[in-house]
Amino acid sequence: MTTASTPVDFPLRRPGASFPPEEYARFREQPGLVRSRLPTGAVVWLVTRHEDVRAVLTDPRVSSNPDHDGFPSLLGRTGGVPSPDTMPGWFVALDPPQHDRFRKTLIPEFSVRRIRALRPTIEEIVDERVDAMLAAGPDADLVADFALPVPSLVISSLLGVPAADRDFFEAKTRVLVSTTATDQQRETATKELLRYLNRLIKIKAKRPGEDLISRLLAGGNLSAAELSGVSMLLLIAGHETTANNIALGVLTLLMHPEWVGADGIVEELLRLHSVADLVALRVATEDLEISGQRIEAGEGIVPLVAAANHDEAAFGCPHRFDPEQAARHHVAFGYGVHQCLGQNLVRGEMEAAYRALFERIPGLRLAAPVEELPFKYDGVLFGLHSLPVRW
Ligand code: HEM
Repeated sequence: MTTASTPVDFPLRRPGASFPPEEYARFREQPGLVRSRLPTGAVVWLVTRHEDVRAVLTDPRVSSNPDHDGFPSLLGRTGGVPSPDTMPGWFVALDPPQHDRFRKTLIPEFSVRRIRALRPTIEEIVDERVDAMLAAGPDADLVADFALPVPSLVISSLLGVPAADRDFFEAKTRVLVSTTATDQQRETATKELLRYLNRLIKIKAKRPGEDLISRLLAGGNLSAAELSGVSMLLLIAGHETTANNIALGVLTLLMHPEWVGADGIVEELLRLHSVADLVALRVATEDLEISGQRIEAGEGIVPLVAAANHDEAAFGCPHRFDPEQAARHHVAFGYGVHQCLGQNLVRGEMEAAYRALFERIPGLRLAAPVEELPFKYDGVLFGLHSLPVRW
């Protein structure tokens, strides 16, 4: 099937916290895929049906490597993020079989058992942030005071960053996700973090501890340079994604207090908000066909996880927040060989965050009208710039 229609400008704006762009529903009804133009001028294929998103993300003829011509970066050639060429160990951008070694090495670090063992640390970090909010209250910005520091502190603990360096680490990672920092400031923070991680890896090689870096060094599957890239990837992949989910989840639970404490809320919040809608970008390396749509080698493909997660064909009432309909077949974490490695960690963090916030701050409420909240309409990840709360 071919289409001569004018490409749709992309990305599109969401109408609110819990809804993907309205156009997605129309796109899902169209036969084939949707031709679209990115801000870079590149023309790509948008994939919006749940079934098609899963088909693209499991097709060996599509690549995650931004070094391929036609890769659909939203910003520049590599989308402002490293490529495996510039940063060894940046394995999210590697295809099998090069990707396999990293994935196999990292999987045990994120197993349910390993994350269960990390649970007391997660709870301690969460509790400390709640203590700090209560001490400074009776109001707070839930993004700056809670949602951003929690995942950064959890990752630093996972990597084995000593407690004395956690403030430095948190401050630098905050610059990476800041929307007010300049490119120069972000570049400097990245260099400082890489320098710090390289030093940490050398220290762990001499004096191993009970942490991910020490275990990976002992395993001997990765070089020091790869380990530094892997650590950076974990930091970047796991920080703002988790922070946005925590903050949007608190907002949704404040609007639906009847669901606080219910089973299934974490899975349903992940599906509903699908913050990483624009993350799983791909390029065809051979000609292929999805839903009758011919895609040529070298054409960019954008599988939209928020569109898939609001597909009526896969979920009963996709726009309603209803933990009872929560289903694990959502694709908020992607699908296939690159499916999010940190998903068990995210679930642990979200559960601990909601439990502590709603149990320890019973009067927690919004301190601004929902329509005035500063949503991240402009970022690659959807979320909130700030979330004013009071108790
Ligand atoms: C709610 C929070 C998160 C969301 C929504 C999310 C979403 C995603 C998505 C959609 C992908 C697939 C990318 C692709 O196919 O190209 C992915 C991959 C990945 N995520 Fe997450 N992520 C989250 C948190 C985390 C955390 C906490 C970590 C680790 C600390 C993490 C580590 C990774 C890694 C390493 C990959 C690449 C896996 C691979 O290529 O094999 N993520 N994530």
